[in-house]
Amino acid sequence: MPVTRIATLLRDGQPGENVTVKGWVRTRRDSKNSFSFIELNDGSCMKNLQIVVDGAIPDYETSIRLVTTGASISVEGVLKESPGKGQRVEVHAVSLAVLGTADSTTFPLQKKGHSLEFLREIAHLRPRTNTFSAVARVRNCISRSIHNFFQSRGFLYINTPIITTSDCEGAGEMFQVTTLDLARIAKIQTEIDWKQDFFGKPASLTVSGQLEAEIYATSIGDCYTFGPTFRAENSNTTRHLAEFWMVEPEMPFYELTDNMDLAEAFIKAMINDVLEQCPEDMEFFNQRIDTTVLAKLENIRSNSFERLPYTDAIEILKNCGRKFDYAIEWGGDLQTEHERYLTEEHFRKPVILFNYPRTLKPFYMRCNDDGRTVRAMDVLVPGVGEIIGGSQREERLDVLTERIRECGMNPEDYWWYIDLRKYGTVPHSGFGLGLERAVLLITGMTNIRDVIPFPRTPGHAEF
Ligand code: 4AD
Ligand code: MG
Repeated sequence: MPVTRIATLLRDGQPGENVTVKGWVRTRRDSKNSFSFIELNDGSCMKNLQIVVDGAIPDYETSIRLVTTGASISVEGVLKESPGKGQRVEVHAVSLAVLGTADSTTFPLQKKGHSLEFLREIAHLRPRTNTFSAVARVRNCISRSIHNFFQSRGFLYINTPIITTSDCEGAGEMFQVTTLDLARIAKIQTEIDWKQDFFGKPASLTVSGQLEAEIYATSIGDCYTFGPTFRAENSNTTRHLAEFWMVEPEMPFYELTDNMDLAEAFIKAMINDVLEQCPEDMEFFNQRIDTTVLAKLENIRSNSFERLPYTDAIEILKNCGRKFDYAIEWGGDLQTEHERYLTEEHFRKPVILFNYPRTLKPFYMRCNDDGRTVRAMDVLVPGVGEIIGGSQREERLDVLTERIRECGMNPEDYWWYIDLRKYGTVPHSGFGLGLERAVLLITGMTNIRDVIPFPRTPGHAEF
């Protein structure tokens, strides 16, 4: 008999049906008159399925003692209306088989209520917990929502390379990829001949698929890339990973305000989808993780985002009477404390900051006529800070070439990117959303290491 997932059974199962379920035991309780109750979870939903085992089933005595927390079992039985509270139906077992035991003296998830820090040490078992399985389901829902949002608007999903020889953000925070035997070279040579390397020159893992997305946007139209990106920034914060997932839409003929409109609609669509498709998981987050998360999301989806030039933001921060750890000066980068003050306390809703100083931003952003700012936009949200970074792109050949030089880069290395401005250039825009930052926002979790299955941070790549 095919296996039915527990989520399906609890939703659609009809009393009288014969079913097979498989999963992992959360708890077992034995009653005096040789009856057992098993709470079974298979990860398909938050709720457990209650299984009633009569001592009269075959091999009851031998198998039931192996049914301990963490063990995997297979049960065939009949669905019955449940007299107990908390569930509509339960399964009365006809036969039960233990697939894999879990030694109760060593199984780390024997009890509930472990700290998130402890669970990070056992990333191979943490998805067996309510919190991490809920995060996995919501993360999946957000990924589906991302594809739906762009697909329903006619955007093409493209795949940009993971290995690259250009540094999109120009920040020099790239992981190098090489097949050279560096240990050997260090012993016999003082310099490395990159021509001998796999690609004939230094290559790295990408920090962003944007530059390649621009190529496609300016030929096939609206498109998006969605994949892993890598940054070797040594920032051990609750918002940064060395490996994270980013979705980057790129649109020809879009100016900065069009870009903002799309970003705002996009964030609201993700929130709507999760609230609609994962109500049970969201209820859990609201009860156990952040009691304000549902109200916060309701507020975000029902209000328009504040749009504010960087220069005005600096004025607000200077005059707000708050002491920040980092000083505020026009031309300085905003720190998370500044971003969060603006979105959480001053405006109490998402804020799109735009027109940043050109010295703060990468070469590809379109220069404004004031000579001081570029058409950048960052979307800041309560609880997280920056969730989206984007811009209108510099489409003018001469200005772009000059900006590349100004940023200390060599235009020759970007000849193909410059070519796009030589042949049929158009105004265009795009942005990048960090998937994990979106999961933080929507679940109310506070550490980015807890919203990606296997976090990579400085010194950590165990699992
Ligand atoms: O602001 P960023 O650096 O923008 C870009 O990479 C552009 N090329 C995107 C584009 O216009 N196509 O990064 C975009 C977003 C940030 O707003 C943040 O959400 C996320 O990516 N991000 C990170 N998330 C986790 N860990 C990190 N180290 C991150 N760095 C950026
Ligand atoms: Mg940014």
